[in-house]
Amino acid sequence: MPEHRLTHAVIDLTGRELLPAGTLLTMPVLQTLAGEHKTDFPACDLLDYGQVHADMLYFFEVPPYDVIFHETERQQTLFDIAGDVVMPETLLTSLYHFRQLDFYTYRHMLLVFALSILIGRELIHDRAALLQEVMAGPIHDIGKLCVPLPILTKKTALTSSEIVHLRHHALAGYVLLTHFFREHETLAARVARDHHERKNGSGYPSGNPIDNLMIDIIMVSDVYDALISPRPYRPMSYDNRTALEEITRQAVAGIISQTVARVLISLNRRSKPHYSCCTLSSERRGAPPQGNLYGRMISDSNDHAQ
Ligand SMILES: [Fe+2]
Ligand SMILES: [Fe+2]
Repeated sequence: MPEHRLTHAVIDLTGRELLPAGTLLTMPVLQTLAGEHKTDFPACDLLDYGQVHADMLYFFEVPPYDVIFHETERQQTLFDIAGDVVMPETLLTSLYHFRQLDFYTYRHMLLVFALSILIGRELIHDRAALLQEVMAGPIHDIGKLCVPLPILTKKTALTSSEIVHLRHHALAGYVLLTHFFREHETLAARVARDHHERKNGSGYPSGNPIDNLMIDIIMVSDVYDALISPRPYRPMSYDNRTALEEITRQAVAGIISQTVARVLISLNRRSKPHYSCCTLSSERRGAPPQGNLYGRMISDSNDHAQ
């Protein structure tokens, strides 16, 4: 694994700097970070924290998620697995912080979590491994604590320096989770670091090809939720058909996992076919929404004009 260098500082919710900008994430640095405290941080059940359970139920009602989550049996299975998720209270406080300040990010983390449970239970048959996988969902973007709110909520195209700051959330999440789980290389920390990598090496922060089912599941859930949700830079979301066509396009192009894409498509079918019966068709009938600024960038010198 290549060593990464932080472009910006990593700061926890209290404002304490864990690592300064410019730090190279070497093994000794990460081991020190994981072992800095002698005792574990107090832990909490995710579903019992604040309004998390009620919020998830509400999110499931909103189209197009109602198709995936409406069924009672699916919801029961989902909450049965989600009920086993326990994590340091500091991380739940950090998740909840977004409920107040950036509701989109809060909702996104919980929906990626919910999707990863339904996808994961089709592909991961060992309960302990599945639990490891789903633990990563609600905190995969926790590194956004280290990205200024005006960048997270900016309604116009980002500048190149703002994109660098936004991308910092991947390594920042890796550092935060290494610290709060008190362990180096937990799956949750690796997911935080690698969920924007791609199978063909077109992602970040390393730009190396990723081949890991656990990360694939969060990656596809993350892309799908981003497509079908309104974003600050794209007021209109993709309709579900167009979003699934885009997921299919990326899977066929080798950018994201074809298997995970097929599971996602099967979850969207009311007839509930097994995912192995869902083919990845190249047919495209939908159209991306107008006014989409995703991936568009302006130069830093033009920022004042935005
Ligand atoms: Fe992310
Ligand atoms: Fe995300």
